[in-house]
Amino acid sequence: MPSPLVQIGGHPDRFAGNARTDAWWVGPAATALGLTVFFGYLTVRAFQATYVYYEPYVSPTVAPPLFTPASGYPGAVPVSEAWFGAFPEWWPSFLPQSPAFFVPASAIAFRFTCYYYRKAYYRSFFVSPPACAVRGVRRPYRGETALLIFQNLHRYTLYAALFLLVCLWWEGFRAFFKQGELGMGVGTVIMVINAALLTGYTFGCHSFRHLIGGKLDCLTCDGAGTLRYGAWQKSSWLNARHMVFAWMSLVWVVLTDVYIYAVSSGAIEDLNTW
Ligand code: FES
Repeated sequence: MPSPLVQIGGHPDRFAGNARTDAWWVGPAATALGLTVFFGYLTVRAFQATYVYYEPYVSPTVAPPLFTPASGYPGAVPVSEAWFGAFPEWWPSFLPQSPAFFVPASAIAFRFTCYYYRKAYYRSFFVSPPACAVRGVRRPYRGETALLIFQNLHRYTLYAALFLLVCLWWEGFRAFFKQGELGMGVGTVIMVINAALLTGYTFGCHSFRHLIGGKLDCLTCDGAGTLRYGAWQKSSWLNARHMVFAWMSLVWVVLTDVYIYAVSSGAIEDLNTW
């Protein structure tokens, strides 16, 4: 006769053992696939750096372009548009001349140490554990120590990400002007949406929320209270949707680059008012 008592705990103790009845593996599997595809694409583009420019559009994979190749890279940012001109002669010949290796690389460090992405890759790649209440690979929990000590850098990579945001909004603004003439194209809209989504992702960051007021015992105890409390509330709203913004902004960065690649290489024409 079955026991009338509710059984609590006692998950099967084998790998992936669980007592769940839902398709718990769909989330981690889709996350692994998505991260592999999108980060894989961005890594390839960071080393490729061709067709990243179509006046007045600059791909977010190379923005802001501190240096640019003087030749040999079709669709590269013109030398006159790079902050410091052409790549210096001492640049190692075994490395591609890609502006992505400078400021845009900080976005990778920011994402890699993001609290949401940690959850994503612990579950999807390290399977430790793959989901709530599912037995994964047994590893001692070490937090942000030993090899994972670099995770502490997140609060510092935030500053680089904030700088990058300013640059991307500036590039979005510049995308309204072609040879000094005001107008807009499909690329302008795409670039502005890209900056907006990355702003939503960055302003919902746990470290950012901490920085603007979360670290305080009292948010409203001084003259800046109202302003600070309002900013903290907005950051909290974004923070609760951090995963959504993480994915939307990642996908949109890729879409923005694909669009600029397509118009720069002549595969499609940019619809615009110029
Ligand atoms: Fe995700 Fe900071 S926690 S960006």
